[in-house]
Parts: sequence; structure tokens; C-alpha cells
Amino acid sequence: MGNTYGDCTVSEWCFVGGKDRQVNTKLIRMDNQHIDETLVREAGNIIKNGGLVAFPTETVYGLGGDALNPQSSEKIYAAKGRPSDNPLIVHIADMEALGFIVREIPESARKLAKMFWPGPLTMIFHKSDMVPKETTGGLDTVAVRMPVHPVARELIRAAGGYIAAPSANRSGKPSPTLAKYVTEDMDGRIEMIIDGGDVEIGLESTIVDLTSKEPTILRPGYITRQMLEEVLNEVEEDGTMMRADSGQAPKAPGMKYRHYAPKGDLTIVSGDAGRVTEYINARLADYKGENKKTGVIGTDISMAAYYADVCKSVGNPHDEKMIARRLYRILRELDDEDVEIIFAEAFDTSGIGLAIMNRLLKAAGHKVVRV
Ligand code: TXA
Ligand code: MG
Repeated sequence: MGNTYGDCTVSEWCFVGGKDRQVNTKLIRMDNQHIDETLVREAGNIIKNGGLVAFPTETVYGLGGDALNPQSSEKIYAAKGRPSDNPLIVHIADMEALGFIVREIPESARKLAKMFWPGPLTMIFHKSDMVPKETTGGLDTVAVRMPVHPVARELIRAAGGYIAAPSANRSGKPSPTLAKYVTEDMDGRIEMIIDGGDVEIGLESTIVDLTSKEPTILRPGYITRQMLEEVLNEVEEDGTMMRADSGQAPKAPGMKYRHYAPKGDLTIVSGDAGRVTEYINARLADYKGENKKTGVIGTDISMAAYYADVCKSVGNPHDEKMIARRLYRILRELDDEDVEIIFAEAFDTSGIGLAIMNRLLKAAGHKVVRV
């Protein structure tokens, strides 16, 4: 285990600072209720020594490195194949840690932290000099989150208090909600993967920018605008969040990239339920003629009506928490089954539905048919 350059046990190579980096990835299981302190210490030491460890959080699996070490951030970008202008979220375990990495803590942040931390909320602050530009993609601001997952919290402490962690997928792919998808993307690229089972939420944290004039949601998530407005009165939404054609650059640099995409060609179909089924079945028939493997993402209610090769249900259409938890897994499963043409029903955009549709729209490259 550890940094073993040139010890070829896996097939892929990645490139770090002009050096090929190939590591043996150690996979460990962790019981979230009874955390093995020796293993957490081992994982924390890997991060302290500049290595990378993937770990479970309540939202999705994260790919963790020392947030205060510029080389660790570079390794994260290389392991993900991610453009280095796309800043990382710094994960902390307690409020004391926040003061060192930000220039000031606005009153709005204190209020939000009191209500939603630890939990699936990321806040953007002006950064202090302690945070290297490599971690923030060159920006003067820093994104900070305090996760609630017990493994994440213990690991942050064991690693010295500050873990930079993007989602643990290769850039562009759906974020991993299970350790097996982390292994699929990261085996041979990072030192350790901690398997803590299925995640609870399944979509990445809500991001709120507190450096703009009004608090602004840059990425929707489990913590909704309505929940934030109960604490802060007025909260804006970044106008680019749900549209491909706004002509503006999103304020969260990561939101401009195609994301969460399955390998198959994904189209969202929205409109009256009966017409959606009719349209999708007609298109499926066309593709059958072309010998393409087809798939549909629908709900428990609509599933039986489709003639696709593979049908995946997100569950009850009114249970948005379940839809959030299942979405990325379904996108990955469609890949595993080599589905080439995928149609997804559009889901309701109220509450967490906004985050669900934001991710689905990105996965589809904003390809939507209205019927
Ligand atoms: O739930 C989550 O937030 C997960 C888990 C692992 O904590 N992490 C996650 O990280 O989703 P990542 O790197 O996949 O997404 C981070 C997003 C990107 O869209 C990035 O552009 C944005 O946060 N971001 C980070 N720092 C920012 C900053 N200073 N200003 C604006 N956007 C920022
Ligand atoms: Mg991500």
C-alpha cells in the first residue's frame, strides 16, 4: 500500500505533475455505526502524507486529499481527469476549523450553519491565505461543507481538519453513490477507498454563495431554496442553473461542464403522462428496427407501459427523496448494461425535484422533447 510508482497492478495510468502515478488501491469496509479507529487513523495518515482516500458522505462518495496541500489538489484533478479551474469543496468537522480558512464569517453563514451543519450544505466564503489557489481553482473564494456522515467526520479529524473532496467519479460521469462505482473509476489512481455502503441522499450538496450581494444558490440540492429562505428571508438562484441557453457562465465553475452523463444517448421527455409514454414507445420501436439496445427511466406507475430492453424505475413519483437516492445509480446501471438509447421521463421540479431535474438535464446535455 502507499505511493508505489511503477508497481503495475492495474491497467490505467494517470499523469501528475509530469510524473506517471500508479498506486495500489486498498479497499476497506467500514461499519458506519462502529467506526474502526485504527483504519481511520491509517486513512487520515494517507491524506496527511499527500495521498488520496475516497470516503462516504451523506450526499455522494468524496475523493479526499489534504485541502491545504497544493500537491494533493493537483493529484485530485489528475485522478478525476478534471480541469483544474474547477474548484474543490473543503470539508471540515467543526465550526472552529472554519475561522482559519475564511476571511470572515458573515452573520448569514452563522445562521445557516446553525440550522444545516453538519449536513448537505456547502457555503462559499472569501478565502484566507491558508487555502492554496490550487484547491480553489485559482479563485479568491472557497467552498466549505461540514458533512454529517460519521465516517467523513472521523476521517476529517484524522486527516488534520481540512479535506478537499470532489465527488469520487471520473470527470463527466455520474457521482458514485456506492463504493463499487468509486472502484470502477478510481482503482489504481488513489491510495484507499472506504466502503461505507449506500449513501443516504444520493445528490451532491446544495451550494450557496455568501460572497455575492444576495445569498445565491449555485447548485440546487437536498436543502431547498424554501428551507434556506426560512433562515435568510431572501435567497436568489443562479439563472444558469436549469437552462442551457442563458448565455451566461454559471457562477460555480463546475456547473458549466457536461456532467453525470451515461454513455448512452439520453433524452428527457416531458408533458402529459399518457403522451410521454406514447411518444417514448414510438421512438423505442424506431430504435428496435436499428438494432439498438434501449432503456427507459420512469416510475413505478409508468414502468409496465414501456417496450424498452431495460426499464429502470426511480420509485414512487411523489417520493422525491427516493428519486434522488436512485438517480445516479440508475444512470450507472444503464452503462453497466450497455444501453445505447435512453429516454427519461421528466420529474416534478418542486422541492428536491429541482436538484433532480438539474442533474438529469445535465446528464442529457439539456436534450428535452416536450410532447
Ligand atoms: O455533496 C457534495 O458537495 C460532494 C461531497 C463529496 O461532499 N462534493 C461535490 O464536489 O459535489 P464537486 O467537486 O463534485 O462539486 C463542487 C462544485 C463544483 O461545481 C464547483 O465548481 C463548485 O462546487 N465550487 C467549488 N468552489 C467554488 C467557489 N469558490 N465558487 C463557486 N463554485 C465553487
Ligand atoms: Mg462532482
